[in-house]
Amino acid sequence: MKTVLQCTDISKTYGTGAALVHALKTCSLSFTQGEFVAIVGKSGSGKSTLLKILGTLDTPDKGEVLLDGEHVLRLSDQKLSRIRRRKIGFIYQDYSLFPEYTAYENIIMPIHLDGRREDRERVLELLETLGILDCKDKFPSEMSGGEQQRTAIARALITSPAVILADEPTGNLDAENANEVVMLMSKAARLYNQTIIMVTHDRQMADYADRILVIVDGVVKGAED
Ligand SMILES: Nc1ncnc2c1ncn2[C@@H]1O[C@H](COP(=O)(O)OP(=O)(O)OP(=O)(O)O)[C@@H](O)[C@H]1O
Ligand SMILES: [Mg+2]
Repeated sequence: MKTVLQCTDISKTYGTGAALVHALKTCSLSFTQGEFVAIVGKSGSGKSTLLKILGTLDTPDKGEVLLDGEHVLRLSDQKLSRIRRRKIGFIYQDYSLFPEYTAYENIIMPIHLDGRREDRERVLELLETLGILDCKDKFPSEMSGGEQQRTAIARALITSPAVILADEPTGNLDAENANEVVMLMSKAARLYNQTIIMVTHDRQMADYADRILVIVDGVVKGAED
């Protein structure tokens, strides 16, 4: 199994003195291509901190992060932003779609930002897989939360990144839409051999994952199936 992302002994503290917080404590993890992993833990346990470091949006105080064979902590800002664009897909709780663009236009955004033209057939195939073909020309304000999040999933999948990182992707959805969205993420991981790491505090959502990591007070407690 190909390892696409690895972190070794990463630690992160915030603040100083009495306000010092050990958000992550010597955390080592490894993710292989195509797996759908859930990271669960209580509020403040360090889930978002871990995801931000894995996604190169924050740097640890100590440790190494290896993405698709590259030591990302040693790269220049310019190289790092290219890697972020090409090798990482992000999905957020609030969907983060551009309101003035249609679903189709939002999905192709990462391709255009990378100076390339989209493969129209591939976009349509993603829309079909995610069940939002009829939303193709709709603006975010014309879509339900579930449809918007499925659009955001398509946007993350379009570049076939080494890894997709999703922080509480179902946080704003009702139970039915939350289940649908996580099921589709699981399906996409299998169908496209796409690694997806999802942070959630909802154990029920985590049950769709191939692997569950539990984080308690900045320590990743261990894996379960
Ligand atoms: N920028 C920051 N400055 C100071 N402390 C921070 C910062 N970001 C996070 N922390 C602290 O680090 C710890 C871990 O925060 P983190 O956001 O990773 O938790 P989380 O598991 O994502 O929580 P939630 O489920 O509420 O999103 C918390 O104690 C938090 O208060
Ligand atoms: Mg968080």
